[in-house]
Amino acid sequence: MSASSCYKNCQPASIGKKIIMAFSGLVLAGFVFGHMIGNLTVFKGAAAINEYAEWLHAHPGLLWVARSVLIVSVIAHIWSGVLLTIENRIARAGGPAVEVTRQASLSSRTMPYSGVIILAFIVFHLLHFTFRKIALGGQEFGADVYKMIIAGFSQPAVAFFYIASMILLCLHLSHGISSVFQTLGLRNQRWRGRLDVVATIYGWVIALGFISIPLAVLLGQLK
Ligand code: HEM
Repeated sequence: MSASSCYKNCQPASIGKKIIMAFSGLVLAGFVFGHMIGNLTVFKGAAAINEYAEWLHAHPGLLWVARSVLIVSVIAHIWSGVLLTIENRIARAGGPAVEVTRQASLSSRTMPYSGVIILAFIVFHLLHFTFRKIALGGQEFGADVYKMIIAGFSQPAVAFFYIASMILLCLHLSHGISSVFQTLGLRNQRWRGRLDVVATIYGWVIALGFISIPLAVLLGQLK
């Protein structure tokens, strides 16, 4: 579903969807950065992350504005992604863009699959840490987010599921950000290599930032 798969051959309607996909993706990429920075306060100790979580919940107006932007972005991203995937499939079945589509890289063709797995991860994650309905052994944590994170990642299967999901998130983000540069017309011959490096670094910074938390719990560095 990358921009490269219909670069130069896109219909105006596809370009509109690509722009929606790019901007909603940028909002989501910005959210994961902010969320990662917030979560990294766990390394400063229980008080720091609990205060951060309490501060968020003490500002419900702000929280709901952020949640609304997030929900609209997720819906727009999925809607444009599904339609662009269908269009690409039709093109691959013999439409005019068939040659260009064949050249699409493996990572671009696997974007819909990594997207679906990340969506499943988010559903799991919301049930885990926001609604606190699964994988917490039925314990109550109240405002003690620190204790909840330690309890959550003390189960190796849960910690490894998060780590594997973050690696997929990295691949999805890296390719997605390259596609944004392409949609915005920045990924020309001169800049392509450098922008792809920026996108790859962004994906790995996010993934490794998140991974450090379950890994530190597994290794007994956070307890
Ligand atoms: C090690 C990785 C992660 C940790 C430790 C973590 C931690 C948390 C915690 C503690 C909450 C609940 C906050 C509260 O209600 O006080 C939360 C909510 C949330 N997380 Fe994560 N998170 C991680 C990764 C991710 C990733 C990768 C995504 C997105 C792809 C994500 C998306 C969300 C969303 C959408 C919410 C709900 C925010 C809201 O309350 O509206 N998280 N996370």
